[in-house]
Amino acid sequence: MDKETEKKWIEAGRIGSAALHLGARLIKPGIKLVEIAEKVEQKIIEMGCKPAFPCNISRNDLAAHYTPPHNDREIFEEGDIVKLDVGAHIDGHISDNATTIDLGNNYPKLVKASREAVNNAIKILKPGLEIREIGKVIYQTIIDNDAYPITNLSGHGIDIYKQHAVPGIPNYDNKNENTLKEDQVIAIEPFATLGNGSVGEGAPSGIYKIETLRPVRSDIARQVLKFISEEYKTLPFAKRWVVKKFGSKGNLGMALLEREGILYSYPQLPELSKSIVSQAEHTIIIKDKPIVTTISD
Ligand code: CO
Repeated sequence: MDKETEKKWIEAGRIGSAALHLGARLIKPGIKLVEIAEKVEQKIIEMGCKPAFPCNISRNDLAAHYTPPHNDREIFEEGDIVKLDVGAHIDGHISDNATTIDLGNNYPKLVKASREAVNNAIKILKPGLEIREIGKVIYQTIIDNDAYPITNLSGHGIDIYKQHAVPGIPNYDNKNENTLKEDQVIAIEPFATLGNGSVGEGAPSGIYKIETLRPVRSDIARQVLKFISEEYKTLPFAKRWVVKKFGSKGNLGMALLEREGILYSYPQLPELSKSIVSQAEHTIIIKDKPIVTTISD
């Protein structure tokens, strides 16, 4: 990887991390979810990046994939366990990082389980390491903290303008003997729960991506599609962003594009036994001495 490229990955990580930590500091009972999402996304833009995906705010038994709608009134409640998942990008060089905020301080060990799991996994990273070894470390760390890993969620490779690339980075030993390569960029994201450890698909998340590009008849749908394909390319985006740009007509445009199969709507991912979930995540460039891009300075 040339120096210019490496700098972009690292800068996207620094900014994604700063935005994550801003959001984590501001989350308090009584504050609106949408206020946090917008402040986090604004911070990314102010610092010179773009959001790589909508600010994800998933509470309690929701493991991942939720962003509040435009003008939403929902607030954080006393005792919420909040997963904040934030990403920034520069020219498609993406950072992806997450943390858990335990508003009642009721689950310190569960929060520690996912954080310690990502940190322990980072310690073993090097070119040539089998992917399954990462999963083994994550699994063991979470079990040692009296929790279960969510096995049907995983970390992932990251490519230019591709948030979820191969390989999947498992949270258990998935027997994948493929090895890490020098300069590969990956995100490691363990989820820990007190439940059975799998998620299902819930209600729409407010998060979308373009599935297939093809022409549309409706004028508003065409305008919306032009905007999102230019602005977000292959990256996930929020319906909230489209409604901000086009007003309520944005909702109609989105609905038409979804019906045509042009947009994919991500479902929310609730833990199936309805148990509390914690998450931690970092983005790393694989080297003999790996670079964790999402560590803030
Ligand atoms: Co991720």
